[in-house]
Amino acid sequence: MKKFKWGILGPGRIAEKLAEAIQQSDNGEVYAIGSRSLDKAANFAKRFGASKSYTSYEELCADDKLDIIYIATPHSFHCEHSLLAMKHGRNVLCEKPFALDAEEATKMITCAKENNVFLMEAMWSRLLPGMKKVKNLLEQNAIGSVKKMTADFCFTSSPQEKARLFEPSLGGGALLDVGIYPLTLACSFFGFPIKFEAKADLTDKGVDATSHYYLEFANGAKAELYSSMVQESKGEAIIEGEEGRIIIHPKAWTLKEVTLENGKVETFDTSYEGSDYLLQVEEVHKCLNKGMKESSINSFEWTLSMMHLMDDLREKMAVNYKLKE
Ligand SMILES: NC(=O)c1ccc[n+]([C@@H]2O[C@H](COP(=O)([O-])OP(=O)(O)OC[C@H]3O[C@@H](n4cnc5c(N)ncnc54)[C@H](OP(=O)(O)O)[C@@H]3O)[C@@H](O)[C@H]2O)c1
Repeated sequence: MKKFKWGILGPGRIAEKLAEAIQQSDNGEVYAIGSRSLDKAANFAKRFGASKSYTSYEELCADDKLDIIYIATPHSFHCEHSLLAMKHGRNVLCEKPFALDAEEATKMITCAKENNVFLMEAMWSRLLPGMKKVKNLLEQNAIGSVKKMTADFCFTSSPQEKARLFEPSLGGGALLDVGIYPLTLACSFFGFPIKFEAKADLTDKGVDATSHYYLEFANGAKAELYSSMVQESKGEAIIEGEEGRIIIHPKAWTLKEVTLENGKVETFDTSYEGSDYLLQVEEVHKCLNKGMKESSINSFEWTLSMMHLMDDLREKMAVNYKLKE
């Protein structure tokens, strides 16, 4: 199989993890780094053995040896930087959340089609074996008719520690950063909701510090989900049915261990070898090898539906990034 040359645009915290996953993959090579800072680009390139380091994102995107560019800048730049890469004819893996809103997401998908390039959202949880396991249990009716799901993703941070999370202009707040994970679990299992509500405690700059989401699905299931960047939680997901329950153990979004309780108790090890992000890198390689322009798992339809849902939830919480600039 061909060795794919990756370019990393915005070498921050998550980019390090993705670079490790590329190194673990059979067919990936960390080839070029694009940063706004010369030192950062050079240091990151040295650490991961990249042959090229560029001090502008534009220069990185102009390198026609690249097979794919990974966008790892803050949420508010995902659209701009993905468009920059795709207009240079580059394939793109873009970090989650795909964009600030559905309008930006639509622009990105249109640009991918116009330039005939591959584009995928880096929502890695959807690619994990545990996701398939839970879906199989639900399809097999292992807990009977589903009544309720609860899930959360919370952590404690501060503007000093992670400034971008507290900045409305950078798409800050819990929803786009971590709320997207319990939403992804619920919507992967039950589809997108037919009814929803959301409430949040806002920071003084008006982004959601803690947010609660209530969803109702066509199959009658209801989900109570929450996320926070100012408090901790267990990070567990529980799906309750008429005849039992499924527990996705913390950290539920990594889907590494699942317990089925339905008269008897059975625990499944759904862990995987290597980086949490390796399967995502492999999905990109598989799609590129087959000449696909879209992943069948993290499809355009999935990404766009999630962006619309998060727009609607944000409206309910009265969070508007663009008005706060
Ligand atoms: N998939 C996951 O599990 C996961 C985990 C964490 C984060 N993420 C996502 O990845 C993205 C980046 O998060 P991160 O935690 O890696 O952020 P980070 O550490 O702050 O890194 C972001 C990088 O973007 C570049 N950048 C460009 N303009 C910027 C600006 N105005 N302010 C700050 N940085 C800017 C910087 O690179 P240069 O200065 O070198 O150009 C910076 O290193 C977010 O969208 C986040 O949701 C995903």
